Amino acid sequence: MPDKSHRYSASMIVIHWLTALLVLGAWFTAEGGRKVAENPPLLHFSLGLAVLALMLPRLVLRVAGRTPEADTQGWLAAAAKAGHAVLYLFLIALPITGWYTASRMGVSVSFFGLQLPALTEPVQGRPGLIAELHENAGTIILILAGLHALMAIWHQFVLRDGTLRRMSLR
Ligand code: HEM
Ligand code: HEM
Repeated sequence: MPDKSHRYSASMIVIHWLTALLVLGAWFTAEGGRKVAENPPLLHFSLGLAVLALMLPRLVLRVAGRTPEADTQGWLAAAAKAGHAVLYLFLIALPITGWYTASRMGVSVSFFGLQLPALTEPVQGRPGLIAELHENAGTIILILAGLHALMAIWHQFVLRDGTLRRMSLR
């Protein structure tokens, strides 16, 4: 079993699980097409922007070196690192492309009531490629997170290396 030094810090653990809940919440509150302009999904915007807001402390904590040593070595550790990097990329790109899409549709974006500036000029007609990327990436991240969860469960119950405890407070 990993001892305390093989665990993520309490703040990283809280941010990890909060982010997972927010991503799920953003997915369930997502709307596409005309409905967005007529009745903007403000909860979707806020939950998604909260994911972005949490990336700042998360990256600072990570760069500050508060990450436990990997329990595995070699290709498995490298694959986990690459997988985590892809998840990080999605966690940043998704909210920004969503914000950009809303601005392009001429829909104003707020974060739990706080009005935010538009990222681009509005256009008539379809919002374009970034919007499509956002919609697809919104579902792809759930698939990636599902695979990531399966890997964590495999580590825990097949390799029995206590991986889940690395992301648990107790
Ligand atoms: C949307 C959902 C999720 C996202 C975006 C996500 C993202 C991430 C990321 C980026 C890391 C790497 C952290 C770092 O090194 O800085 C991580 C680690 C981890 N995640 Fe998730 N995660 C999600 C859901 C889950 C679920 C459902 C489980 C468990 C069933 C889980 C278990 C873990 C564990 C155990 C680690 C630590 C891995 C290690 O370094 O040994 N995650 N997660
Ligand atoms: C983790 C964060 C996010 C996830 C998982 C996510 C997911 C999704 C998904 C799956 C869709 C497609 C819905 C459908 O086709 O019915 C969508 C659409 C949309 N999202 Fe997000 N989103 C996130 C963050 C955001 C943010 C922060 C904003 C704005 C500030 C935003 C704005 C939009 C807009 C405007 C659409 C409609 C696009 C269109 O109709 O072309 N999203 N989102």
